[in-house]
Amino acid sequence: MTRRKLVAGNWKMNGSRATLHELDAIARAAAANPGIDVAVAIPATLIEPASARVPGLAIGAEDVHANASGAHTGCLSAAMVREAGARFTIVGHSERRSDQHETSQDAWGKAAAAHKEGLSVILCCGETEAERDAGRAERVVQAQIEKSVPDNADGAWFTLAYEPRWAIGTGRTPTHDEIGAIHAIARAKLRMLVGDAAAGIRILYGGSVTGANAAAILAIDNVDGALIGGASLTAEKFVPIIEAAGAM
Ligand code: PGA
Repeated sequence: MTRRKLVAGNWKMNGSRATLHELDAIARAAAANPGIDVAVAIPATLIEPASARVPGLAIGAEDVHANASGAHTGCLSAAMVREAGARFTIVGHSERRSDQHETSQDAWGKAAAAHKEGLSVILCCGETEAERDAGRAERVVQAQIEKSVPDNADGAWFTLAYEPRWAIGTGRTPTHDEIGAIHAIARAKLRMLVGDAAAGIRILYGGSVTGANAAAILAIDNVDGALIGGASLTAEKFVPIIEAAGAM
């Protein structure tokens, strides 16, 4: 089964209307590489103007609430971000887990809510540095997948992202063997949960991906793309990653 590579950006709490022009060259690079998918998750306030500016590019949210509506001050539902123009959302990012104390069960509810509203989902998992040092990375990731992946997940709407927390924004990455080992375990776990549909689910690597290391990381077995934070903020840094994926 061939899975199209997905290069997804995550602007986190960065950007403004003044920086949306970065998306112009990103959209051009996406159009110039039709063999892969390109997506950018951005702050909710920018989804509507970004979607209007680059209608050909998949713009997404960085989080949604698990409920459709109600008394949840400050939160946004999947329907709200979809109405603004989002086509997908990230859920379970490690910064949501650490800053907002979200759990794998929370990520499960958010993924299900997003799917119900017709959004695609990128669900994140990944171990802390202490967990890796203790030899527990594989077990931690397996447990996160087991608790967070909806049992109707398939590649048409669902993507998993493996992001070791200690590699996010640090310039450090696991070895290629370490990445390959976790992705193989993640694939096997998905197979246990969703059966044959697992073969169609993309598994992204995230954590300090740059134009310099993208090609080698994207060549690892079971690495079907990348989730990129810092290097997605400018076209100058993001386009080389798109081109590396497009050239594979
Ligand atoms: P980074 O972030 O590329 O800046 O390491 C990745 C992420 O958090 O998705």
